[in-house]
Amino acid sequence: MSEKIKMILDCDPGHDDAVALMVAGSSPKLELLGVTVVAGNQTIDNTVRNALHLVEYLGLDVPVYAGCPLPMVRERKIADDIHGESGLDGPVFPPLQRKAETEHAVNYLVRTLMESEGDIVVVTTGPMTNLAMALRMEPRIAQKIRRIVLMGGSVGYGNVTPAAEFNIWADGEAAQVCFTCGAPVTMVGLDVTRKVLCYPHIVERMGAVGNRAGKLFAELMGHFCRTEKEVFGFDGGPLHDPVTVASLIDPELLTLQDMNVQIEIRAQQSYGRTNCDSFDYLHLPHTAQVAVDIDVERFWDIIEDALRRYDA
Ligand code: BDR
Ligand code: CA
Repeated sequence: MSEKIKMILDCDPGHDDAVALMVAGSSPKLELLGVTVVAGNQTIDNTVRNALHLVEYLGLDVPVYAGCPLPMVRERKIADDIHGESGLDGPVFPPLQRKAETEHAVNYLVRTLMESEGDIVVVTTGPMTNLAMALRMEPRIAQKIRRIVLMGGSVGYGNVTPAAEFNIWADGEAAQVCFTCGAPVTMVGLDVTRKVLCYPHIVERMGAVGNRAGKLFAELMGHFCRTEKEVFGFDGGPLHDPVTVASLIDPELLTLQDMNVQIEIRAQQSYGRTNCDSFDYLHLPHTAQVAVDIDVERFWDIIEDALRRYDA
């Protein structure tokens, strides 16, 4: 088998972040070096605790680093309407033993990337604050990042305002820093993640895997699919975050289009919008690969395969 892809997962768990972690933690094609956590779906205390619960429950031997509690410029936003008071409402975990590392997530990112051979993919599934702060602290890491693969943005509609998707809207300035840093960027936005809707038969299929990961998946989706129905009317919750990790496992999963993408950080109504020039109307340099389509069946096969790799 070809060499494993080294990756860091920067996340704000979060139900769909939890599934992204499950996939990253079990794939033989990936080497998960560390999990860095940011405030987003909930406060930093909640998202860090959730990340620790997840690695402990899944038996993952991967360090967890607590990161930024606040966005770079704007006020803190959370997504408790979807993810609940804890940020991971639904499953009940045993008392927590695992602890976060003492090193701050931003220091970890700088140190690990600077010491690397330029072969690490940084996957972000929350607001991009940690990575942006790392880029501001040590701009040379931009040349060390193999690729940034982010869940965020949208060519079309938003999900927190008509214009903006949550991860970009929660810290637009951070997204701006990351998109303009010079590292290759792959944007996995709502255009594709809203195609992988976790319908009841999918929850049943993954639950039937029968191990701890399958059980956790079903418990997580119980809450997530209910709130997605309440808030958006979807009959299945869009499983946003794992699409990033799945696209590393299977490079054919997504249809990608190179485009000029600019983050709207000056507007009020459309703050956090990703302006994607899909028709190349402006003839500007292409700044990101944007996911425009996804092979849905292939995606669910990757998820099931990932869950099956966990112990009973
Ligand atoms: C994104 O926002 C969060 O609520 C989810 O975890 C996902 O990362 C979707 O807009
Ligand atoms: Ca997330």
